[in-house]
Amino acid sequence: MTAPPPNPPVLIAEAEIAARVDALARQISADYAAVDDLLLVGVLRGAFIFLADLSRRLTIPCSVDFMALSRYEHGATASGAVRLIMDLRVEVAGHHVLLVEDIVDSGETLAYLRRSLEARGPASLKTCALTRKPDRLPADVVVDYVGFDIPDRWVVGYGLDYDNRFRTLPYIGVLELPRGG
Ligand code: IMP
Ligand code: MG
Repeated sequence: MTAPPPNPPVLIAEAEIAARVDALARQISADYAAVDDLLLVGVLRGAFIFLADLSRRLTIPCSVDFMALSRYEHGATASGAVRLIMDLRVEVAGHHVLLVEDIVDSGETLAYLRRSLEARGPASLKTCALTRKPDRLPADVVVDYVGFDIPDRWVVGYGLDYDNRFRTLPYIGVLELPRGG
C-alpha cells in the first residue's frame, strides 16, 4: 500500500466543526438543564479533541472520565471484536451518562459500550458522536446527538486517525483507502 498523502483533502472545515460543536453543546446543555452532574464518558483515543471542545462549551455542571477501546488494530483493517483497554475510574450507578464518540461506523463499538455502561445502572445513558456513517449502520443503532452524517470514506483529523496519524489535523479530511472487512 502506498503511504497516505500528507494533507488529506477537507471534508469538514475547522469553522464548520466549531459551529456544529457549539450547536451540540447548546442542545445538550438545554436537555440536561435539570441534571446537577452530567458524566461525560470519552472514548479514547479518537474522541479526545471533540470531548475537550464540547465539554468546555457546556453550560451545565459536568465531570469527565474516559474509556479506551480498540477495534481497528492496524490502520483501517478491522480486527474483529471490540477490546476494552482502560475502564472508567468513576462509578456509573445512579449517574446521568453521556457517551462521547468520535465516529460511529458499523455501530459495534457503540453497542459494546452501551451494554457495558447499561449493566452498571446509570440514571440515564445517551450517546453523542461527532460523525456517523449512515451507509453501514443498522437502523436500530440510535445515536442521540450527531455532529455530522458523512459518506462511507475513511476520515481523519480532529481526533480521528489512520494508524495513529493525522489526529491533530484541525479539520476532518478524507483518505483514499481500500476498506477493511
Ligand atoms: P464501529 O464499531 O464500526 O462503529 O467503529 C467505530 C470505530 O472505528 C471508531 O471509534 C474509530 O476508532 C474507527 N473508525 C471507523 N471509521 C473510521 C474512520 O473513517 N476514520 C477513523 N476511524 C474510524
Ligand atoms: Mg473510537
